[in-house]
Amino acid sequence: MAKEKETVPVALVTLTIGILVAIISFWYGRDNGLLPEQVSQQAPLVDNFFRVMVTVGTALFLLVEGAIVFALFKFRRRPDDDTDAPPIKGNFSLEVFWTAIPAVIVIGLGIYSVDVYNRMGGFDTVGSTAVAHHHGGHATQLASLPGSSDVGAPLLSAAAPQQVAFKYGLGATPAEGQASPFLEIAVKGLQYAWLFTYPNGMVTGELHVPVGEDVRLNITAQDVLHSFWLPEFRIKQDAIPGETTELRFTPTKTGTYPVVCAELCGAYHGSMRSQIIIQEPDEYEQWVAENQPVAVTTGTDTVALHPSERSDADFLAPYAAEWGIDAAAIAPLQPERHA
Ligand code: CUA
Repeated sequence: MAKEKETVPVALVTLTIGILVAIISFWYGRDNGLLPEQVSQQAPLVDNFFRVMVTVGTALFLLVEGAIVFALFKFRRRPDDDTDAPPIKGNFSLEVFWTAIPAVIVIGLGIYSVDVYNRMGGFDTVGSTAVAHHHGGHATQLASLPGSSDVGAPLLSAAAPQQVAFKYGLGATPAEGQASPFLEIAVKGLQYAWLFTYPNGMVTGELHVPVGEDVRLNITAQDVLHSFWLPEFRIKQDAIPGETTELRFTPTKTGTYPVVCAELCGAYHGSMRSQIIIQEPDEYEQWVAENQPVAVTTGTDTVALHPSERSDADFLAPYAAEWGIDAAAIAPLQPERHA
């Protein structure tokens, strides 16, 4: 019996194991159910990358754990066997093998992830490269700016008035170039809420966007670092006091999805949540119409004020009760300083 077993060629056993591991890994990588719904055009890029990583991870898990379990049985101590194990050390080809394979995998994943990041607009949020291509290069533009000949003057500050300053985040994709988004919303994180300011000046505590349209969020923070995360969109961006970061996406499906703060920002970080409501364009327009900046009652007169004429705290007061935020939470809101 033992002799018959030894006649099965090792190559055949290895091949069979390899095929089985590959089948299981590809199956689990494709269909693992670990991710939430996809509701943005950007989500499939991230998910395909995730599937590749899960496939590779599953194969490694099966091989490593399989080898351990196999060795536990195959090389266990037999009764009455008090001999030492054979002294094996060094195997050059094995060393090369298990260094080369992980190196190829890691470098491959690195290149793939950089490509996904680029295709989501991470390298050049404002699309300045695309513009440089069409207009004969941005180095020439910089050189022709007055003051750029000053020795030691930082190039970026000379460029700032032209709005080519770099921003962090996921912005215009290479395909979009510098094309303007359909809708631009200012997002402010504060302990412990998200505030959304729409182009018409209204401020809301939940985010409404029309389905199928290109949306840009300009994100900042009032007090400490927060992180604006839309899990179903597969995008996340730090909210930084004194600096504006960016997220750009196109929602693909109507519905209500969570907005989460993903950066420990204080005692109530865990409750710093809101929601994003993706609506059909006509429903969205209706919502905007119903939520125009409200009139403020001062004594007997009702005066409609533009938001910029009031401090943030004044502006927010009418909304506070509606959101269940108490006056103390709004009190620290100071007029913003713009650098
Ligand atoms: Cu804001 Cu955590």
